[in-house]
Amino acid sequence: MPRLTPVDIKERKTKGPKLTMLTAYDYHFASLIDQCGIDMILVGDSLGMVVLGYDSTVPVTMDEMLHHCRAVSRAVEHALVVGDMPFMSYQTSKEDALRNAGRFLKEAGCDAVKLEGGSHFAETISCLVAAGIPVVGHVGLTPQTASSLGGYKVQGRDFDAAKRIYEDALAVADAGAFAIVLECVPTALAALITRSIDIPTIGIGAGDKCDGQVLVTHDMIGLFEKFTPKFVRKYVNLAPQIKEAFLTFKEEVEAGKFPSNEESFSGGEEAVLAIESKETRAKT
Ligand code: KIV
Repeated sequence: MPRLTPVDIKERKTKGPKLTMLTAYDYHFASLIDQCGIDMILVGDSLGMVVLGYDSTVPVTMDEMLHHCRAVSRAVEHALVVGDMPFMSYQTSKEDALRNAGRFLKEAGCDAVKLEGGSHFAETISCLVAAGIPVVGHVGLTPQTASSLGGYKVQGRDFDAAKRIYEDALAVADAGAFAIVLECVPTALAALITRSIDIPTIGIGAGDKCDGQVLVTHDMIGLFEKFTPKFVRKYVNLAPQIKEAFLTFKEEVEAGKFPSNEESFSGGEEAVLAIESKETRAKT
């Protein structure tokens, strides 16, 4: 089955069912997600925090993103793969944005790029779209600039902030994005945006009225232990189970219980005897 296209994704706004998106950063997770029929795989710059151990998404580089996008792209047959443009890969100029966005498609097998920001980046989005690069927008809480937004917290509760986010979403849609991520905004604001634009809204901490939902995979499977945002549902809690496996391995090796005969290879005794007797002869 070929990969979904931006046109397929856009149509789901009216035709349903709701869209699903998860993040992946490597071949195996991407393959598991793809086998489950998730519509879109985002190689998010959350890579920096959940895989590379940075404190924020700010340090993530183009090279790191492309490296992980390539691994994901090699695995994915059905989902639409979105590469996240890292901090300062598109803010500096439209030329930089074009060059870097193009690399996600040409060098890393992505089908689209995502970038954070609203009205200020509408012209950049238009440029990318005009060049044939499908774009997913991202407004509300934008982690690359979280510190100027007062940290990782809900955005758009008062009139001014809600109006700004609403106008940002409209500008992103008008600029030609085919979908938009709404992060950490109240349900009522996400609902207003969802009924005001003709592209699908993909919510993360934006309530149930969006056209789709995205989660960071390492959050929803309980692999990321540093903190759990309020909007995350842990569908499985893997970290304790994985640690249990590591601890049992350590105990069993130390106690001589691993490996067993079933986990070892038999034969070769004659060869060993011959080597031993040769060595004994050589010494005497
Ligand atoms: O980088 C990321 O994983 C994201 C999601 C939170 C939407 O941008």
